[in-house]
Amino acid sequence: MDIRIERVSPDKAKKKPEGALGFGKYFTDHMFLMEYTTGKGWHDARIVPYGPIALDPSAMVFHYGQEIFEGLKAYHAADGRTLLFRPDENAKRMNSSCHRLCMPEIPVDTWVECVKAAVKNDIDWIPTDFGTSLYIRPFMIATDPFLGVRASDHYYFIIILSPVASYYESGLNPVRIYIETEYVRAVRGGTGFTKCGGNYAASILSQSNAHTEGYEQVLWLDGVHREYIEEVGAMNVFFKIDGEIVTPSLEGSILPGITRKSAIELLTKKGYKVSERKLSVREVEEAADAGKLEEIFGTGTAAVISPVGELKIGGKHIVINDNKIGEVSSWLYNTLTGIQWGRIEDKNGWTVTI
Ligand code: PLP
Ligand code: COI
Repeated sequence: MDIRIERVSPDKAKKKPEGALGFGKYFTDHMFLMEYTTGKGWHDARIVPYGPIALDPSAMVFHYGQEIFEGLKAYHAADGRTLLFRPDENAKRMNSSCHRLCMPEIPVDTWVECVKAAVKNDIDWIPTDFGTSLYIRPFMIATDPFLGVRASDHYYFIIILSPVASYYESGLNPVRIYIETEYVRAVRGGTGFTKCGGNYAASILSQSNAHTEGYEQVLWLDGVHREYIEEVGAMNVFFKIDGEIVTPSLEGSILPGITRKSAIELLTKKGYKVSERKLSVREVEEAADAGKLEEIFGTGTAAVISPVGELKIGGKHIVINDNKIGEVSSWLYNTLTGIQWGRIEDKNGWTVTI
């Protein structure tokens, strides 16, 4: 693949952030861009200095929201290698989002090559402190200057890179989560299984209400019965109830998380009983009342493995595992991050060296 590279001039190169990185606040010196035109396919792949992009105010993305994104990370391994974690899974999921949003797919190998090229070009931006990484945000937008509702004939595929630490301000400490009973995020047949911006736009009101009450994120219920657990704002969710690890099954309304899939494989291999099934709020409440709700944790690229210490269900507050990190969350965190940062042998062939 031919990628033109225009490097930032040394006097314009940014100063690397010092101190706490937080999440998604800093961006590297360059970005990757590629354009799509119906009849011509993907073309003009390039890496250019990071900066604003000019779009027509009538560009379709601004009006009808044809926008999708992905999220993965590049890790600086202890032996100096740069690793990606299952990037082909992100490429496949982006293509599934493309299909649902009527956007042009990118062959998996090409997608991974674009990501590798972008990371390689800004490799000195990968932070090295414990728990830090380079977050990779590939996204696609519709750019036709047109106000009719249809699929666009022109798109941009862009990759930006951001050195990050923990997604949550609380770091690895258990997060507090609020079960949303008024609003829903997605329904089967909709776009819940995709990473389209609209899903997140629809979640902001609840998220903001939760923040006002001192909760980090919202736990969504199914849109039909308002009874079954779906997922959290930026992560999939697992419950350990009386020894069984349960996570909601994928039925079209939740994101098929790559960390979720990896966690299921790791936990199953370790010998835990893991069930992908429907899980009602009532079952969670009853388990809590009976002292059988042993752990709750979320999984996600940004969130990694995040233990949940408190859950609000209506007027009731449930404290889980004394608000401490549980045994399963802790084992999973160490194993997954051990593989991602190259500290533990990757027996599954999940990591890709750049
Ligand atoms: N669910 C939602 C809504 C998300 O935004 C994310 C983050 O990508 C996840 C789940 C976890 O997915 P993954 O593990 O692929 O990052
Ligand atoms: C990710 O974990 O990569 C995500 O996309 C979550 C995002 C909402 C921060």
